[in-house]
Amino acid sequence: MDPRSEDDLVAAAWAAREGSLCTYSKFAVGAVLEDAAGNLWTGANVENASYNLGLCAERVALYYALTHGASGFRRIAVVADAASPVPPCGACRQALFEFAPDATLSLENRAGERQHYTVRELLPRAFEAHHLNLD
Ligand code: THU
Repeated sequence: MDPRSEDDLVAAAWAAREGSLCTYSKFAVGAVLEDAAGNLWTGANVENASYNLGLCAERVALYYALTHGASGFRRIAVVADAASPVPPCGACRQALFEFAPDATLSLENRAGERQHYTVRELLPRAFEAHHLNLD
C-alpha cells in the first residue's frame, strides 16, 4: 500500500474536528496521530461547564491512542479554523513530548496554510522523567 500522504493525514484531522464538543469557546480543533504501524488515532477538543476540565484535541487523541496500545508515533496533524495554523498548547506539548518527542506536526488552518515542527522543537529543555531522580 502507498504510504499515507500528508494531505490524507491532515484530512483525517479535519474529519476528527467534526467530533468537537466546543460548547463554550466554539473553537473546534481536530487532531490525529499516526503510530509506527500506520494506524491513525483521532481526537477533538471536549469542553465542560466547569471550564478548566476541558481537554484539547491533541490530548484526547494521544490518550485514546495510548490506551489502545499504540506507540511509536511518527506524524501528528492539528487543524482549526483560525487566522493562522494552531500549535499545541503548552500542556499538550508536554504530554506529546513524553510519548512522541520526534513526531512531526502538520498544523493547518481553513485557508490551507500549513506549518511544520517537531514536538521537540516546540518544547526546548522539556521536563523529563530523568529529572525525577527515580533511580
Ligand atoms: N484547543 C485545542 O484543542 N488544541 C489546541 O491546540 C489549542 C486549543 C482547544 C481547547 C479549548 O477547547 C479551545 O480549543 C479553545 O481554547
